[in-house]
Amino acid sequence: MPMERKPRLRAKAGRTAAQIRWLERQLADRFVAEAKKRGFRARSVFKLEEIDRRFGLLRKGQAVLDLGAAPGSWTQYAVRKGCRVVACDLLEMAPVPGAEFVQGDFTDPAVQEQLRARLGGPADVVLSDAAPNTTGLRAVDRLKSEALAEAVVELLEAVLRPGGACLLKLLKGAEAAVLARARPLFAGYRLIRPAATRAESSEIYLLLTGFGGPNPKPAAEG
Ligand SMILES: C[S@@+](CC[C@H](N)C(=O)[O-])C[C@H]1O[C@@H](n2cnc3c(N)ncnc32)[C@H](O)[C@@H]1O
Repeated sequence: MPMERKPRLRAKAGRTAAQIRWLERQLADRFVAEAKKRGFRARSVFKLEEIDRRFGLLRKGQAVLDLGAAPGSWTQYAVRKGCRVVACDLLEMAPVPGAEFVQGDFTDPAVQEQLRARLGGPADVVLSDAAPNTTGLRAVDRLKSEALAEAVVELLEAVLRPGGACLLKLLKGAEAAVLARARPLFAGYRLIRPAATRAESSEIYLLLTGFGGPNPKPAAEG
């Protein structure tokens, strides 16, 4: 069997050592090659594809809200499955034909309003692959991940239809706090670590199914 050769890049002006390591890792990664071959913008599409295949998450005709969507491979996947997608990211995202895009912070009420307007009704599925900028300090990163995931859960009451599902990314360690918040709102949940997750990554996905609908407001007293 031929020996597998690790791709090596020559140092080039303007590239840091970390950038060179990242590029070498990308070149050696079979998921990167497969994503390119199938016309997807990122290898993370295979995490969604695996979860979708295992749990039947996305179906033709569904309205999907994709939070933290750039560069757009999850949006591409959902559009190819025949879903109507509204995507949101802090960063610009090249248009995905068939999807709408709102650039902004989905925790901002003004952006949430735009997302609701673009959806034009409740979403069947909310996806969040959103990741905060990490610091390398595990406790700080876990808290940032918790806060972002909790913001997704808070948004669900305003955008998800009863019976709908939500898939969201977490850093390991954040699941207890997020589940304490989300679990009462859903009939079921699963924690999943897809095969395409990089070995050194501490991310996991929380799949929440059977949304119970917005909490009824307590009756006014008097
Ligand atoms: C891992 S990437 C998503 C990859 C995407 N699922 C794909 O397949 O192409 C995470 C994204 O989350 C976005 N993000 C993080 N916090 C956000 C926020 N509060 N509002 C909107 N986007 C956010 C980042 O800008 C980044 O583009």
